[in-house]
Amino acid sequence: MIELERYVQYFRDVDFTPSGTSICRSTDRGVYLPSNPVHILIGLSCLLEAGAISKSDKFLDAGSGDGRVTIGASLLGLDATGVEYDPHLIALARYHATQINVNPTFLQGDFTSDETFYPGNFTDFGVVYNFINNERDIAAKIANESPVGTKFVLYGHMDDKTLPGLDYQFGFKHHDFKTPVNPISPRIGIFHIYRKLPAKRALAPAARL
Ligand SMILES: C[S@@+](CC[C@H](N)C(=O)[O-])C[C@H]1O[C@@H](n2cnc3c(N)ncnc32)[C@H](O)[C@@H]1O
Repeated sequence: MIELERYVQYFRDVDFTPSGTSICRSTDRGVYLPSNPVHILIGLSCLLEAGAISKSDKFLDAGSGDGRVTIGASLLGLDATGVEYDPHLIALARYHATQINVNPTFLQGDFTSDETFYPGNFTDFGVVYNFINNERDIAAKIANESPVGTKFVLYGHMDDKTLPGLDYQFGFKHHDFKTPVNPISPRIGIFHIYRKLPAKRALAPAARL
């Protein structure tokens, strides 16, 4: 428990800039905006408790930013990997992991490219997380390549919950009104859970009576 509290305080300190400026910025693939560390721990714990994800699934944060989701997932006992295009954020993530005393894997590259995962495979991951940034690209990769049953956890607001090839399972919302004076990560966390379905088979023609 102390470990989890330290994790939350650590990333709240990371997010705090005395000038009140945001640490959000553009990267060569998207926008860096960190998840709220409280939402990460509570969201992933609820998913584990509900059996929606399992510790036997390899966990991937697609677009891992400064590594906080991957590090939080490691603290909760998941076999976690983060993939991020921006090399400075990858270096930062590796530094944060040493500060929190966990040892997840961080891969630098584009999450839509299979080369990024070499010598592993994208299809090894049973749970993929994304904080709405190019979420349709990663959802399409799961739908096209991952084994049936692969879970997709989407964090953040989204009105249209339809993702081709994936089945929407459920969603939940968590509020964090304790976020300090200089909040840059969302106070309201919304999680949507999807699952890859078997390909639809053509129906056999009805037998003639
Ligand atoms: C909104 S931030 C989320 C960071 C982290 N997952 C979190 O929740 O704190 C999205 C990150 O995804 C990265 N990203 C977006 N598209 C990507 C891609 N195709 N390949 C690798 N990284 C990508 C961006 O560079 C950015 O750092």
